[in-house]
Amino acid sequence: MPAVSDSHAYRASLLWFPDSHSDRIHFESDGLLVTERGEDGIARIKAIGSYTSLYPQYIRLPLTDWRGRWIAPGFVDTHIHYAQTDVIGSPADGLLPWLNNHTFPQETRFADPSHARAVASFFFDELKRHGVTTALTFATAHSASVDAFFNEAQSRQLRMISGRVLQDRHSPDGLRDRSTAQSLDETEALIQRWHGVDRLGYAITPRFAPTSSEAQLRGAGELAAAYPQTWVQTHVAENADEIRWVAELFPESRSYLGVYESMGLLRERSVYAHCLHLDASDRDLMSERGAAAAVCPTSNLFLDSGLFDFNLAQSHQLKHALASDVGGGTSFSPFHTMHAAYTVARQSLGKTGHSLGAEHVWWLHTAGAAAALGLDGVCGNLNPGCDADFILINPRATPLLARRTAAADSLQAQLFAMVVLGDDRLIEHVVINGR
Ligand code: GUN
Ligand code: ZN
Repeated sequence: MPAVSDSHAYRASLLWFPDSHSDRIHFESDGLLVTERGEDGIARIKAIGSYTSLYPQYIRLPLTDWRGRWIAPGFVDTHIHYAQTDVIGSPADGLLPWLNNHTFPQETRFADPSHARAVASFFFDELKRHGVTTALTFATAHSASVDAFFNEAQSRQLRMISGRVLQDRHSPDGLRDRSTAQSLDETEALIQRWHGVDRLGYAITPRFAPTSSEAQLRGAGELAAAYPQTWVQTHVAENADEIRWVAELFPESRSYLGVYESMGLLRERSVYAHCLHLDASDRDLMSERGAAAAVCPTSNLFLDSGLFDFNLAQSHQLKHALASDVGGGTSFSPFHTMHAAYTVARQSLGKTGHSLGAEHVWWLHTAGAAAALGLDGVCGNLNPGCDADFILINPRATPLLARRTAAADSLQAQLFAMVVLGDDRLIEHVVINGR
């Protein structure tokens, strides 16, 4: 009999990925999910299965009856900027004018800790409304923005990853690092302050090659080697003008990705946003090094950056997973991102006569996203041992969803209807760390 204290059972339909490396969903229409809190304060999944088979073992536990609803893993967003919450929906003629006219001015405001705290609080409310329980997040080039983010995440008991942005050139006053050495010292101090505290993780965060000197990128690579359990996050090969600029700034480099490679930034737990305009060698290199691509379809459509090639990513075995990229991205909603990913994938996979199934895009935003971050078995899934971070879905949340899901003749058809029609209205509850 499991410990009764702070253990809990939930009766609902259950959706999860028994093998976190595969998109095959197990759906239990009358299921039981049992959670138990460890001595470290983290609530984890203790058992999952059919109600009739499991309930006799857990009869003494408090039971929440959510029949008629679905429990699914919390979504994992592999690339988002919390400081761009107020940038969402700012149109521009492409990436570089968007950065200069909208993004940099907003991020400059995060030198003020009270502004950073207020935005962090709103941001986490928004993630929760949309069922996102873990995110790999850019802060800004101010240590205070990272402290605000992690303090808020810690008080909400979230599993979150973030880092101070490194940018020591081609950036406005107030955002540009005045001292390269200091930016790296601050990064190391933040790693020591936050990485591995509760469920928080640190990501070494050079913004992108054009806004870092070679010394700053090299220093970031040295930190990435000294702290191999931290993450690395940056942007690569997003936009044609950006790529031309990188070629001018780093004429010796074989490719844009090659700049990061030569600085020691390509390794497991390194996550590269966009990866639109890579060549075959780049894709092979990322795959060999265990680096992952964060695919940001709503952002790429909004900024007219290009289309991620799912066909080539699959054939080169390049790890990839979904991301909102708010504020270039147009929505916090994983449903909007999955829908956009499906649509974009038709362009590349269509040539081969395939498309992405609803299970696959769902996996790319949950268990597959956790795997891309090196967190399989930890979050984004409901197998025993995973964190108790999950969402409650009402498949009949809107009149059209009710009509469409009732008419669907298979799990795949129901999931597809949700991917295409879904948004925050589908998310009825979010359980974070078992609460
Ligand atoms: N490249 C460098 N910075 C950014 C950013 O903030 N958003 C996007 N989409 N691309 C970038
Ligand atoms: Zn981004």
